[in-house]
Amino acid sequence: MPTRSTTRSTPDITLAGRGLLGLAGMPAAELRGLLKASREMRRAMDDAVRIEPVLARRVVANLFFEDSTRTRTSFSVAARRLGAEVVDLMGFASSVNKGETLVDTALNVEAMGIDVLVVRARQSGAAADIARAVRCPVVNAGDGRHEHPTQGLLDTLALAIAAGREEDFDLRGLRVAIVGDVANSRVARSAIAAMTTLGARVVCVGPPGMAPAGLKAMGCEVSHDLDAVLPNLDAVMMLRIQFERHGEEGGKSDGADKRASAFASIREYRAFYALTAERARRLKPAAVVMHPGPMNRGLEIDGEVADGPRSIILAQVTCGVAVRMAVLRACVSPA
Ligand code: CP
Repeated sequence: MPTRSTTRSTPDITLAGRGLLGLAGMPAAELRGLLKASREMRRAMDDAVRIEPVLARRVVANLFFEDSTRTRTSFSVAARRLGAEVVDLMGFASSVNKGETLVDTALNVEAMGIDVLVVRARQSGAAADIARAVRCPVVNAGDGRHEHPTQGLLDTLALAIAAGREEDFDLRGLRVAIVGDVANSRVARSAIAAMTTLGARVVCVGPPGMAPAGLKAMGCEVSHDLDAVLPNLDAVMMLRIQFERHGEEGGKSDGADKRASAFASIREYRAFYALTAERARRLKPAAVVMHPGPMNRGLEIDGEVADGPRSIILAQVTCGVAVRMAVLRACVSPA
């Protein structure tokens, strides 16, 4: 794609010295600062404007101890667009398999001269453990059930753009449902934190085992009746059922046991909680459909809806590159 040689400036925001571990408790002004910087990156991408290579001669390391398509690839694309070199270390090909801890792995990678560590892990709190041990900024790319802050930012950016709220990121008056396996979702935790701080009303919807009343402590509502909330929504975000996280505490590993612990059958789950084409027709005309991916088409969402005119699912992915550019830039910007 041809580019103009202009450099677009981005709002001042810094994550230097601390990185980004989560969105819970982040003040609205800081959230808005990150989102405005992300919006400028998104516009620069759309307009093919040259972006200042603020990460030139810097090295970003992706330490991914759990599978990823979107997050790892978009961190790599974002880092390269800012001029950085990128190092990828996958858990399955690392010495973690020989008994090395995640913290020792991170310390060794940092010792090679890394400027930013991007960490994904199965264990909640792993990114924070690593951040306490290393000197460089750490960005949490998803840790267990805890948080996925760049996903929360990209979901909020995509929602704000779809709703025409991207100038001030004031989300008051918007009602968003997050549907499905909320209890196991780090994506939901980060999205709830960001969206409620900016004024949106968030309702978590699912069977009691997936959307327990305790979620209300995060500032959202809880419902077990998708059909009742559908007509009043401005956005509906569908979640994948995270079978791999079911029964972890109880030590269960059999897939059938995991399903049984949350709901009776896939058929029953679909009957009550899938976003089918018929349900999508009952949304408000301007309501949008979101999904953080990976999707299970035909389970939590029909393919016709995922690919339909309401879907902003691929726009979320594009926003992911912009958010990760803004976050990486903020990690190396002076305080
Ligand atoms: N949304 C998300 O985190 O996707 P990946 O697991 O593919 O990175």
